[in-house]
Amino acid sequence: MRILFKNVTLIFPEKDLEEIGDLYVENGIIRDIGKNLSLDGEVEVIEGKDKVLVPTLVDMHVHLREPGYEWKETIETGSKAAIAGGFTAICCMPNTNPPIDNKETVRFIYEKTNKIGLVRIYPIGTITKGREGKELSEIGDMYMAGAKGFSDDGNCVMNSEVLRCALEYSKMFDVPIIEHPEDINLTTEGSINWGKISTLLGLKGMPWVAEASIVARDVFLASFTKGKLHIAHISCWQSLDMIKWGKEKGVNVTCEVTPHHLVLTEDYVKESLYDTNTKMNPPLRTKEDQEALWEGIKNDIIDVIATDHAPHHIDDKMVEYNLAEFGISGLETAIPLIITYGYYKRKIPLVKLLKKMSYNPAKIMGLPYIPLDKNVPANFTVIDISLEKKVEKEKFFSKGKNTPFDGWALKGWPIMTFVEGRLVYREGKILW
Ligand code: DOR
Repeated sequence: MRILFKNVTLIFPEKDLEEIGDLYVENGIIRDIGKNLSLDGEVEVIEGKDKVLVPTLVDMHVHLREPGYEWKETIETGSKAAIAGGFTAICCMPNTNPPIDNKETVRFIYEKTNKIGLVRIYPIGTITKGREGKELSEIGDMYMAGAKGFSDDGNCVMNSEVLRCALEYSKMFDVPIIEHPEDINLTTEGSINWGKISTLLGLKGMPWVAEASIVARDVFLASFTKGKLHIAHISCWQSLDMIKWGKEKGVNVTCEVTPHHLVLTEDYVKESLYDTNTKMNPPLRTKEDQEALWEGIKNDIIDVIATDHAPHHIDDKMVEYNLAEFGISGLETAIPLIITYGYYKRKIPLVKLLKKMSYNPAKIMGLPYIPLDKNVPANFTVIDISLEKKVEKEKFFSKGKNTPFDGWALKGWPIMTFVEGRLVYREGKILW
């Protein structure tokens, strides 16, 4: 296999750099990077600056549902969705059944991943046994087996002493404690943001203070313990303000936002006539929150864009709004949403957006990061930023067809994904 990329956009997230240049891949290895490369013999040439090459795209927040909920997703279908979405590595959340709260389940994820061999998958172990919030899991054991971070995601760690202990542990292994920030006493039975729209629709609301108060508590606990804290899916400006404060004070805190919170607001729940695919946790918030999140992307208070890929079965969503499960299938729409709404609409540089989907999550999670460089395996994605097409949920590789974006025309799609030297995805087809 010989492919020459000519006059394409090369992204170097680790150097905050993007430039036009050539890159040559031979048998899965990047042999050369430069200008005006020319080659003899049979070689496929892919040309043009609308072809964007970005290394090691990582989604650090994915629900794969296996073991236990295989009718929603499996490691295999999730792997296919990941490479079709352009990702070379993903981290999977432990709210499975049984949960990933022991070393055997961590090993199971690795064994399955290696058998499938499409995308790198790194398990996240639970913070507490059974995700019950009471007793710490065997964090050391799971770490030794390969868990890269710890989270009770889906549940908040409500007990401050338990979280304090987890943050103490995180220092020993330099792993992030990933919090799902939600004071459940304030959100019981809620299904959308608390405010005018929840009142109009007669649905119970989930107020921003349920999220921001936990973010504040956790930032203080991270300050107190000096542990490594990562806040998942922030959705309101008040959380962002707290994280900014923590960062300014030197607290070891990072955070992520999802593409859906960047693109949609609570108004869309009404506009879509209560489409249950607009139900996610945290809920879609206000325009003011959305503006603050984009500002957080621009000023780097937000470190990571992660999908919170939450595939569900149609039976979980074809029910009354208040009974529907939370979450959307996100792996296969993340890149085009971010290119369309971040790059084209908000004019944010590609390297800034894509660094939050590659270098930053890889560093936070302590994962291998393979840059665009000479003599390293091709581990990059080609995004065609001029390619415009409609989202077709029926074509998703994921079992989860639960997307609010079905039928949306988006611009900027992944067309090739190389994982550690192998071209595993190309223009709608899985190649291995
Ligand atoms: O919307 C969500 N869905 N948020 C979460 O925190 C959990 C996730 C799930 O597992 O379905």
